[in-house]
Amino acid sequence: MQNFKAFRLLAGDGAPVCQLADLSVDDLSPGNVTIKVAYSSINYKDALASKGLNGIIRTWPRIGGIDLAGTVLESADSRFKKGAEVVVHGFGIGVDHDGGHSQVARVPGDWVLRIPEGLSLFDAAVIGAAGYTAGYSLHLMELNGLEPGQGPVLVDGATGGVASVAIDMLTQRGYQVTAMSGKESEAPYLKMLGASNIIGRLAPQENPKPLEKAQWAGAIDSVGGATLAWLTRTVQPGGVIAAFGNAGGAELATTVLPFILRGIRLLGINANSPMPVREQVWKKIAREYRPAHLVQIAHVIQMDELPTYLDRMLEGQTRGRTVIDMSK
Ligand SMILES: NC(=O)c1ccc[n+]([C@@H]2O[C@H](COP(=O)([O-])OP(=O)(O)OC[C@H]3O[C@@H](n4cnc5c(N)ncnc54)[C@H](OP(=O)(O)O)[C@@H]3O)[C@@H](O)[C@H]2O)c1
Repeated sequence: MQNFKAFRLLAGDGAPVCQLADLSVDDLSPGNVTIKVAYSSINYKDALASKGLNGIIRTWPRIGGIDLAGTVLESADSRFKKGAEVVVHGFGIGVDHDGGHSQVARVPGDWVLRIPEGLSLFDAAVIGAAGYTAGYSLHLMELNGLEPGQGPVLVDGATGGVASVAIDMLTQRGYQVTAMSGKESEAPYLKMLGASNIIGRLAPQENPKPLEKAQWAGAIDSVGGATLAWLTRTVQPGGVIAAFGNAGGAELATTVLPFILRGIRLLGINANSPMPVREQVWKKIAREYRPAHLVQIAHVIQMDELPTYLDRMLEGQTRGRTVIDMSK
C-alpha cells in the first residue's frame, strides 16, 4: 500500500506539535480493517486534544480525529468487504488509537459501522460523532417520554456541531425548537435549520430561585455549567434534558427541587455507546431523524487547513460541522 498523509500530534514543550507526516500503514495503531478515509471532521474534543488540554491524549505520537467516514481498503474481518462504505467514531480513535485525521486509518472490525442505506459518505461525515451525539440524545429523550407537541425544545450552544444537527433533526421530527446562541448574526442560519425562536446566552444570575417559569418540554445541552443549572429550573414538569457538553463549564449547581417537585429527568449522554446502540441510532438518523440541511451545516476544508480550524474552534469561530476532505 502506498504511503499517505496524516496529521500527527507529537509531544511538545507544553502544547503538542501538529505535524503533517508521510506515513505507511505499519505506522498506524493496529487493527484488522484498513480504511481509505474520505472525510474526517473537527469535534470539540479534537480541538482540546490538539492543545494538550483535559489530558485527552496521553501517548504520543497520535493521529487525532474522533470520527471518519471512508471505504474499506483491506479487511481480515468477514463482515466488511473491500469497498464497503463505513463510519467510525469514538472507541478511542483520535485519543488512544490513531484517528481520522489521516488519509488511511486502521481499526478493529468491532468499531466499524456500515453506513446505513440512505446516507452517503459525505452525509455520514457531516453527521459524524457530533450528529451521532444529537441522534443518541433524541433517542434517549424519546425513550424518556419526549414527543412533538409537548412544547418547545431548547438547544443551547446552537451554532455548534452537535447543536446544529440536533436543531435540524428535531425540526424534521416535528418538534418546535428554541435555539440559544451567543451569535446574534447567526439568526438566519438557525432559522434555516428550523429554529422557530432564538434567544441569547444566559445572563449571569445572582441567587436564582430553585424553580423558575417552566418553559421547555426538553433541552439538548452542549454548554453545561450555569446554563445546565438554569435548564433544570426551567424545564416543564416531566421534561427531559440531555446533557453531554461542557463548552461553558463543568460545574453543576442546582437543587433537588426540580427533580422531586417537577419530576424532571436529567439524562447523562456518553456518545461512546456500544455497537448495538450505535446501529439502532444510526438507522434512526438515516430515516426518522434524517437531517435535511447537512450541506448547509457542513463547512468543508482541505487537510492543510486543519491546524487553523482546530484553533478557530477553541476561539468559538466555527459554525456547524467542520468537515475535512481527506482526498487531497
Ligand atoms: N458526552 C459526549 O459523548 C459528547 C459528544 C460530543 C460532544 N460533546 C461535548 O459537547 C459540547 C459541544 O460539542 P461540539 O462539537 O458541538 O462543539 P462546538 O461545535 O464548538 O459547539 C459548542 C457551542 O457552544 C457554545 N459555546 C461555546 N463556548 C461557550 C460558553 N463559554 N458559554 C456558552 N456557550 C458556549 C457555542 O455556541 P453559540 O456561539 O451558538 O452560543 C459553540 O458553538 C462540547 O463540550 C463537547 O466536548 C460530548
